[in-house]
Amino acid sequence: MTRYAKILGTGSYLPENRVTNDDLSKTLDTSDEWIYSRTGIKARHLASVEQNTSDLAVIAAQRALETSGVTCDEIDLIVLATSTPDVIFPSTACIVQEKLGMNGFAAFDVQAVCAGFMYALVTANAYISSGLAKKALVIGADTFSHIMDWTDRSTCVLFGDGAGAVVLGQSDEPGIIHAKLAADGRYQHLLNTPGQVVHGEVVGRPFLQMNGQGVFKFAVKALAKIAEDVLNESGFKQEQIDWLVPHQANVRIIESTAKHLGLSMDKVIVTLDEQGNTSAASVPLALDFGVKSGQIKPGQHLMLEGIGGGFAWGAALVKY
Ligand code: UT7
Repeated sequence: MTRYAKILGTGSYLPENRVTNDDLSKTLDTSDEWIYSRTGIKARHLASVEQNTSDLAVIAAQRALETSGVTCDEIDLIVLATSTPDVIFPSTACIVQEKLGMNGFAAFDVQAVCAGFMYALVTANAYISSGLAKKALVIGADTFSHIMDWTDRSTCVLFGDGAGAVVLGQSDEPGIIHAKLAADGRYQHLLNTPGQVVHGEVVGRPFLQMNGQGVFKFAVKALAKIAEDVLNESGFKQEQIDWLVPHQANVRIIESTAKHLGLSMDKVIVTLDEQGNTSAASVPLALDFGVKSGQIKPGQHLMLEGIGGGFAWGAALVKY
């Protein structure tokens, strides 16, 4: 029997500390006008120094469990996407498992930067549809504020912290209808955080660095192509998509993907204005926002997509 995976519930969490563009312009040579007009961002939420990625992830996971009506002892898989893990190891997924009072089943991280949730969702979908797991927590969580150079106005104004989660369970009909992942390591120079720890010393620059225009151009093309591929390969038509739930990096990239899919902006979930780019958390945060705000309704078709450092990117057609 073919098994399918379906999203049973969503949850998310943003740290309390909300920082506006005007707040940033007090210590940085920037302005609300520059940030908003170039990106669509108005504010972002920042974790404290003590708040780790797992702290955010646990709350998002608890909220997703609550919404889905699934209990902790039913979960038999955690796939967590992050590129800001609490520590080098163990995985943040194992830390989250322990904090949720669970143990004994597979829990691991995937690292695909801003495409992380797409990679985690596709991985969990493969586990569930093959029968390897029955109910999974799929989490995207990042604390990019911890890897920002807060004197670099070209990067630090763009990112925020947060976590989003879904509970994925078995279903008789497709929930994850079709998905596709891609990567191209030749473009790693456009967006990276090249530091590492060797013999107890940090080697290389441990801050995010980016060629903004290079990322922009790559993202616009790659997202249009992969979303179109997912649609064509699934046999669906543009007009069957109810909502685009995109990675939230720049509203102009989002507008370009929407246009390519023939969707007007009132069919797009946008959270970027209040959250900035939360990397692996951005797609599940947008999904949860769409659901909780009553925009996304059961039975509707969603196109999820994300892209980030690697380069890595992906898209999924989902029946919610
Ligand atoms: O998840 C994927 C992650 N990243 C992205 O998707 C980012 C994609 N790229 C972008 O969103 C845009 O390229 C940015 C928003 C990052 C930058 O916008 P841009 O229109 O490409 O600006 P730019 O980098 O060409 O910079 C234009 C000017 C420069 O000054 P000069 O050289 O023209 O005098 C920058 O120094 O804007 C200056 N600038 C700023 N000014 C005020 C850069 N950052 C700021 C700032 N405030 N925060």
